[in-house]
Amino acid sequence: MPSNPLTFKSISVDHTFHSSGLPVLVQPINSPIWQDCIDDIQQLVEQLLHIQGGLLFRGFSVNGADDFNAFARSFGHDLLNYDYASTPRNEVTSGVYTSTEYPAHQVIPLHNEQAYTLSWPLKIWFHCEIAPEKDGETPIADSRRVYDNIAPAIRARFAEHGLLYVRNYGNGLDLSWQQAFGTSDKTQVEAFCAKNHIECIWKEDGELQTRQICQAVSTHPSTHEKVWFNQAHLFHVSNLDEHIKETLISIVGEENLPRNVYYGDGSPIKDEDLQHIRQVLSQCQVSFPWQKGDIMMLDNMLAAHGRSTFSGDRKVIVAMAQGYSEQR
Ligand SMILES: [Fe+2]
Repeated sequence: MPSNPLTFKSISVDHTFHSSGLPVLVQPINSPIWQDCIDDIQQLVEQLLHIQGGLLFRGFSVNGADDFNAFARSFGHDLLNYDYASTPRNEVTSGVYTSTEYPAHQVIPLHNEQAYTLSWPLKIWFHCEIAPEKDGETPIADSRRVYDNIAPAIRARFAEHGLLYVRNYGNGLDLSWQQAFGTSDKTQVEAFCAKNHIECIWKEDGELQTRQICQAVSTHPSTHEKVWFNQAHLFHVSNLDEHIKETLISIVGEENLPRNVYYGDGSPIKDEDLQHIRQVLSQCQVSFPWQKGDIMMLDNMLAAHGRSTFSGDRKVIVAMAQGYSEQR
């Protein structure tokens, strides 16, 4: 908590919402109309987001996806498209997507958005339109804490080599390349890959494999803090259920698994190292129930997010802005 808590006329700021200090709870004092509070909100975001990593706006009236779009855009950046997708999503309105179409019974592990590639959004917003009846949280974790808590030897190995992500699209096993790239035009896929340092290999059956070497650790552009910034624990074959893993390998072979990850030099990553990383992520995880109308705003480099399983209806939509890539 800052020594001089920030005070504003139109919003209250509560650092005690969660014992970890993440996220900071922001509520209206009088008018619940976010436009009435936007000057204070923008000042708060400017002063606090890069320190705390996440803010939860609760009690503001947000009228649908277009209003959420306007809220997200009010911070000065156009919203980004969900290019080079990793999970299935639908666009609700321009720049606003369903947070994921993954089935309700599946947990989505903590991750920083698009950390499996070389450019990513610096800001991400989630808006709860329908609160889940049971569970369905969007857990978060401070990526600086994750970095600090990973065993130095593992951290050093990851940082030194970087990561090679290998994706095989389609075959009924994962997103098709058309879904992942949002086009049916192979030349557009090739152009996107060339621009983004992604190796693009068309296979004899017309399916696609991509290979890309990316960072495992990154440095926040404003605070210069080190953050754990990769999706190795999601892409690695050890993320699959043992039975599914064996079946898939026997059918398509390891080289054709829908996704996998290696060290940047192509050498394998040990299962137990990823197990350690998953343990650290779980120790750093912060969870809270959604309320209808909530908006959570994260600095995508300082805070990872995931999704719990849920039952009943749930609608959380997402927007991203401020594309960034490290100089290479
Ligand atoms: Fe995500």
